[in-house]
Amino acid sequence: MKTIRIFLILAILFSGCTRDKSPKPDFTFAFLTDIHITPDRNAPEGFQQAIDTVNALKPDFVLTGGDLIMDALGQTRGRADSLYQLYLEMAKGFQVPVYNTVGNHELFAFYTHNIDTTDVDYGDRMYRRYIGDPWYSFDHKGWHFISLKSIEQTPTRRYQGEINPEQLEWLKQDLAAVDSLTPIIVTVHIPLITVYDQWKHGGTYTNSPVSVITNGKEVMDLLRTRNIRLILQGHQHYLEDLVVDGVHVITGGAVSAGWWQGPLGTLKEGFVMVKIFGQEIDWEYIEYRKE
Ligand SMILES: [Fe+2]
Repeated sequence: MKTIRIFLILAILFSGCTRDKSPKPDFTFAFLTDIHITPDRNAPEGFQQAIDTVNALKPDFVLTGGDLIMDALGQTRGRADSLYQLYLEMAKGFQVPVYNTVGNHELFAFYTHNIDTTDVDYGDRMYRRYIGDPWYSFDHKGWHFISLKSIEQTPTRRYQGEINPEQLEWLKQDLAAVDSLTPIIVTVHIPLITVYDQWKHGGTYTNSPVSVITNGKEVMDLLRTRNIRLILQGHQHYLEDLVVDGVHVITGGAVSAGWWQGPLGTLKEGFVMVKIFGQEIDWEYIEYRKE
């Protein structure tokens, strides 16, 4: 009897040790948001450090969260072109596939009033020319990934957080082809859900239309019909992990931290490494910047 008891204790200890020591994820990926690449501010040197750090960690792939370039909203075509080209050139340094998400700063000429809305590059047309579809999905090792465009133009040529009707229809169709057990990860630039403003201004503060997706409920109602596990978002240059009904909602800091002018408050230059274990996720913010 005594022998059996000792064996049981050892078995429990041993199983605990193996689980805690070095659990091997099913796969990992790096989520890099708010890169804001620009030729100045030592940004290329910083982004290269991020790329090298990602490559050393050997994730399955990179997923970006938008604001890939410093800005196209209020720049000349030549400047916006050169930033897209710089981003694409540097992103070739990733040794794994890169899946992009569009941010507000990728949208061309919203603020440039001498460029007409019918221009060949206006809005997300420049993004489509350089990067590809602003919304799409893909599958990886049994998980379904959805990247959405979370920015629309206002009547005064500003932007607000919104998922447009065409995308909502697409999302319905996309989710219809995913069974209810398949775990889903969604990426948006402007957050679906965040307490950023309440954290700063208090619990009764109302989110502004530029800081969250204004029709987020319609999106969440669709996502909740399936096995949504994780929402990855950017925009705020702020790090947050909300867990609601077991769903992680992570606002992933910023590769550029304070737009390449050092940390933003307590936020340092970094990215999120996501580790997948079965249907669960774990994550870590990797501060990659070397002095
Ligand atoms: Fe940004």
